[in-house]
Amino acid sequence: MTQQITVTLTVNGTQMTRTVGAHRTLLELLRDELDLTGAKEGCGTGDCGACTVLIDGRPVTSCLMLVGEADGRAVRTVEGLAGPDGELHPVQRTFIEHGGVQCGFCIPGMLMSAAALIERTPEPTEREVRAAIAGNLCRCTGYTRIVTAILDAAAALRGAAPSPVEEGSPA
Ligand code: FES
Ligand code: FES
Repeated sequence: MTQQITVTLTVNGTQMTRTVGAHRTLLELLRDELDLTGAKEGCGTGDCGACTVLIDGRPVTSCLMLVGEADGRAVRTVEGLAGPDGELHPVQRTFIEHGGVQCGFCIPGMLMSAAALIERTPEPTEREVRAAIAGNLCRCTGYTRIVTAILDAAAALRGAAPSPVEEGSPA
């Protein structure tokens, strides 16, 4: 019989307790038990970043995290990015403005890595932005629009003018 584990965690500000198989991942808990399907399973092996969520403010690949490891932690998913009134997080808004979304599969994870960066580093360099999303693979956009969007979101968050980045600069 599968060993069960009871975990209590805070997901997008709401504390909850669930009993699930100890072998299950945080991604499975989010998608299958909590119906939070924003985080995606791309590779399932920690390589693509589509499953990225924040644990205590830091990006993690939830496909590699067992539910027991999330016990007592604060989890934030893409569903928790917008404000309670539905106002988009700056990264959500600027991704739309810059056309940083194409098929969209990578975007929930990409947004979480971006939000974590700009919330702890108000004025990131382009190099820091690229490093922050290095684990988030996107097969569609070429990354340049995404990088521009993140720099603009950081500027918006600190109340500054958008950062000048060439849309045609190398990905
Ligand atoms: Fe988790 Fe690819 S699904 S890193
Ligand atoms: Fe398609 Fe990134 S928008 S994988």
